Amino acid sequence: MATEKIGRTLLVAAAVALGCSAMVSLAIQFLRPVQDAYAQLGRNRAVLAAAGELPETVSDRMVVSRYLDLDVRMVDMSSQVFVDSSPVGDARLYDHWALGEGSPLLLHVSAEATSDQPSLLPRYVPVYLVWEGQTLHRLVLPIHGQGMWSTIYAYLALNGDLSTVAAMQVYRHGETPGIGDRIEDPKWLSTWIGKRVYDDTGRSQLHVTRGSSDSPYRVNLITGASVTSEALGNIVRFWLGPQGYGPLLQALRGSTLPLNPP
Ligand SMILES: Cc1cc2nc3c(=O)[nH]c(=O)nc-3n(C[C@H](O)[C@H](O)[C@H](O)COP(=O)(O)O)c2cc1C
Repeated sequence: MATEKIGRTLLVAAAVALGCSAMVSLAIQFLRPVQDAYAQLGRNRAVLAAAGELPETVSDRMVVSRYLDLDVRMVDMSSQVFVDSSPVGDARLYDHWALGEGSPLLLHVSAEATSDQPSLLPRYVPVYLVWEGQTLHRLVLPIHGQGMWSTIYAYLALNGDLSTVAAMQVYRHGETPGIGDRIEDPKWLSTWIGKRVYDDTGRSQLHVTRGSSDSPYRVNLITGASVTSEALGNIVRFWLGPQGYGPLLQALRGSTLPLNPP
């Protein structure tokens, strides 16, 4: 009798557990499109903030509409040129950060890359151009790389000279709340503005270091979060270097690659 009771209790418990997990799975499936839409909105906001096109109060609808108005170009990282027609669909909706590990759309970076930088790069990367009339005002470049605990995703905006920082916007990371997440502090991010990213020889030279923010090539690190803040400097140097956007920017600066408003 007692065994029969225990058996029935276990059966009921198993049925309840099964029912609950089915409901959770259904909720996850059901909410995925909503989550994706919010992720897309968050990215749109970060791009617009880096582009200098995000007013303080703006509705979600306005964010999307302003984002869709941006001039988006797809860069082929293997040849470091803009591709005319995107082989991966609408450049404005393409999320190169969402590629899975085995994706054929990832490129192996050559052996010169250091171990703390990505060994795989997305083949196609969307970049954002902001025009003032016929003049390029800003170029917004997505960058990512290893922080202390996580991959840091950010948008670096260069001024039209393609040599100085217009804005730095951290989009996503998994660094420690209260410590590493201080890289999101708008006050610290504002210290990046105006810094030079290339030296006179064209080398990618921006560093995040302790106590040397007077230099045009230096951003002061965050005390107590030096690992994460220095990492952001490493990420920028990598992406502006020969494995990243370096050759593209050089061609654009030297006008060997024509750049016209849409
Ligand atoms: C639990 C824990 C989490 C930490 N998380 C971070 C982090 O996310 N980013 C970071 O830069 N430092 C983090 N630190 C601190 C680093 O270990 C290191 O002490 C700090 O970056 C050094 O900064 P400083 O050179 O300015 O003293 C963490 C430390 C502990 C104990």
